[in-house]
Amino acid sequence: MDQTHESPSHHVPVLRDEVVAYLAPAGSGTIVDATYGRGGHALALAAAYPAAWIVGVDRDPEAVASAPRRPRLVVVRGNFADLDRIVARVREEHDELPPIAGVLLDLGVSSPQLDAPERGFSYRTAGPLDMRMGPDAATDAASLVAHADVDELTRIFRRYGEERYARRIAEAVVRARPIHDTAELAAVVAEAVPAAARRSGHPARRVFQALRIAVNEELDALERGLDAAVGLLAPGGRIVVISYHSLEDRIVKRRFAAAAAGCVCPPDLPVCACGRVPELRLVTRRAVRPSPKEVAENPRSRSARLRVAEKLEARP
Ligand SMILES: C[S@@+](CC[C@H](N)C(=O)[O-])C[C@H]1O[C@@H](n2cnc3c(N)ncnc32)[C@H](O)[C@@H]1O
Repeated sequence: MDQTHESPSHHVPVLRDEVVAYLAPAGSGTIVDATYGRGGHALALAAAYPAAWIVGVDRDPEAVASAPRRPRLVVVRGNFADLDRIVARVREEHDELPPIAGVLLDLGVSSPQLDAPERGFSYRTAGPLDMRMGPDAATDAASLVAHADVDELTRIFRRYGEERYARRIAEAVVRARPIHDTAELAAVVAEAVPAAARRSGHPARRVFQALRIAVNEELDALERGLDAAVGLLAPGGRIVVISYHSLEDRIVKRRFAAAAAGCVCPPDLPVCACGRVPELRLVTRRAVRPSPKEVAENPRSRSARLRVAEKLEARP
C-alpha cells in the first residue's frame, strides 16, 4: 500500500467491490485469501457468498489473531510462498473443504502494520528498524542497515526501490552508522539526495520500500505464491492479484501472460516442441485501477493495480 500521510488507522480494503465481483464464480467453492490482513476482503467475500469457505493466510500473527471465529472461515499463519502446503494442512483438518475456486493476493503491508511505529515500516514516525511482516523473515532492516556493504545496499535500493540515487544513499548510510531507528535512517536518506529530489514526495519512500522488500523477500514469495496458487485452482477457478508498485505488477503480468500463452517455443520453430498448453485465460486484459472516488476516500489505494486470470480445463 502507499505510505501516504492521510492514513486511516484501520485497514480499508482496496477495490473491494471489484474483488467480490471477479470472484463471483468462486462463490460456492473455497476462496483462499492469501493476504488476510484485517479481513476486509475476506469478510466481504463471506458476506457476498455465504456458501463459500474462506481460508485466510497471513505471515503476521497479529493479522491471524484479529480473525473472528465463524463457520466456514479458517485463518492460519504462513507465507503464501508455501500456499500449496498451507492449504494441504488446512484440508487435513477440514476434509469437507470444497475445491479451490478462488485465490486473492492483496500484496504489501496493511494499514495497522504501517501505522504501528514499533513495526518499523514507516519513515514518518520513529521506530525500530524492523520491517518484518512476520517472525519467519530471515533478517530485519536493522541487520541490513548495520551490516550490508555499499554494493549490497546499492543493489537493494536500486533493484527494489528503483532509486536513482542508490549508491549515494548507500554510501551515506554506511558513513552514518550506527543508525538507531527509522527516523534517523529517513534523515540520512533525505540528506543524501539532491535538493531537487526532495521536492517530489518523501525522499525516503523508495529506500523504505526497498528494505521492506529485501527483508521479507517479497518478490521471491510472489513468484512462488503465484505458481502455488495457479497449481491449487480448480478448472474455472480465478486468481485475483492487487499490486502496489511496478515491480510486483510486472511479475504478475508476466506470469499471467506466460500461463495464458502456453507454448514457449521460439516463433520461428515450425511446430511446437515444448508441449506446453495454456493454463490460464486472462480475465482482465489491462490492470483495473481504483476510481478517483476511491482514491479520494482512501489515498492509500492510489497505486493499486488489479489483475484477474481464470484456470483453464486441463487438456487430455
Ligand atoms: C495489503 S494487506 C491485506 C489487507 C486485506 N486484504 C484486508 O482487506 O484487510 C497485505 C497483508 O498481506 C500479508 N502478507 C504480505 N506478504 C505475505 C506473504 N508472503 N505471505 C503471507 N502474508 C503476506 C501482510 O502481512 C499483510 O497483512
